[in-house]
Amino acid sequence: MQREVTLITGDGIGPEITVSIKKIFEAAQVPIVWEEVNAGMTSLEQGDELIPQSLIRSVSKNKIALKGPITTPVGKGFKSVNVQLRHMFDLYQNIRPCRSTPGIRSKFDNVDMVLFRENTEGLYAGLELYDDRLEMADSIARVTKKGSLRIVRAAFQYARDFGHKKVTLVHKANILKWIGKIFLDAGEQVSKDYPEIEMNDRIIDNMCMQLVIRPQDYDVIVTTNLFGDILSDLCAGLVGGLGMVAGANVGDEIAIFEAVHGSAPDIAGQDKANPTAIIRSSILMLKHLKMNNFAKRIDKALDKTLANPRDCTADLGGPLGTLAFTETVISNLK
Ligand code: NAI
Ligand code: MG
Repeated sequence: MQREVTLITGDGIGPEITVSIKKIFEAAQVPIVWEEVNAGMTSLEQGDELIPQSLIRSVSKNKIALKGPITTPVGKGFKSVNVQLRHMFDLYQNIRPCRSTPGIRSKFDNVDMVLFRENTEGLYAGLELYDDRLEMADSIARVTKKGSLRIVRAAFQYARDFGHKKVTLVHKANILKWIGKIFLDAGEQVSKDYPEIEMNDRIIDNMCMQLVIRPQDYDVIVTTNLFGDILSDLCAGLVGGLGMVAGANVGDEIAIFEAVHGSAPDIAGQDKANPTAIIRSSILMLKHLKMNNFAKRIDKALDKTLANPRDCTADLGGPLGTLAFTETVISNLK
């Protein structure tokens, strides 16, 4: 039985890194058929909508998608397609596992954390106003009890399911008293249902310092949208960079898997991108689909490739381009 999955190619390095996935899945004979769609600038240029109906239909039908990065204009232009998709399909959990990889040069070799970022509220709720007369802007961070409870519960449940011992809530409740309180109260309420899991909390600024000094002290981290966005790039920096870290946007019905990084316009179209982050996102997707044997096989081949510095891409100090790296992963499939 073949499973149909939506593939959103994205732009920038998106087309190159999604080709990697297609090649690796084909070589590993993963029983998945891709339904390819796109969004963003690429769709606009083809005379379609920013988020075409074909994408909405495909994701609603298949319930699972793998997505390449999509560029968002800075300080002008359209609202992030990524943020819109998360809202549209109520993908409230953004799960980003971040661990050290043997053989990869980085500041630490013992990092193993999973970041849960609330994905639909906070400063990304879309509540922005500009007053032309006063030349003044308001960006409103909206945090709800319901939204906080469900993301905190997802983090605790993940900790229980995968044998993690501690959950750290990250906030700024000393300054942002109300949204901080709602989030911390959610932690207190949910933790009662998980007595075997230790809970603590950190203020975001201190957390940044703690993470760059002692990342091994942290296990599962749960936080609001903006803090999660920033912390996940920081965490990527602890384990080899943005080319390494996978992500999953998960709701109660639909999940879209994508790397933490963006469209990397500085290296797009040059065969320089490291596809590890999206390969790892596709492995998370296979686990979500209960295709564990395929997930394990690809994960092993990827780790074997990364263990050899001569088989790595330029961001990791290696000599290979995206395609050659992909071919090496394929040759390491057993
Ligand atoms: P970025 O993550 O695209 O790139 C930051 C730096 O990391 C760049 O130097 C880039 O070359 C490098 N990098 C990123 N991924 C890499 C990979 N796989 N292999 C090797 N090097 C890699 O972040 P930036 O430059 O701030 O944003 C570029 C665009 O991406 C923006 O339009 C932004 O809105 C968008 N973006 C989209 C996301 C998504 O689709 N989910 C997430 C983050 C940003
Ligand atoms: Mg980000």
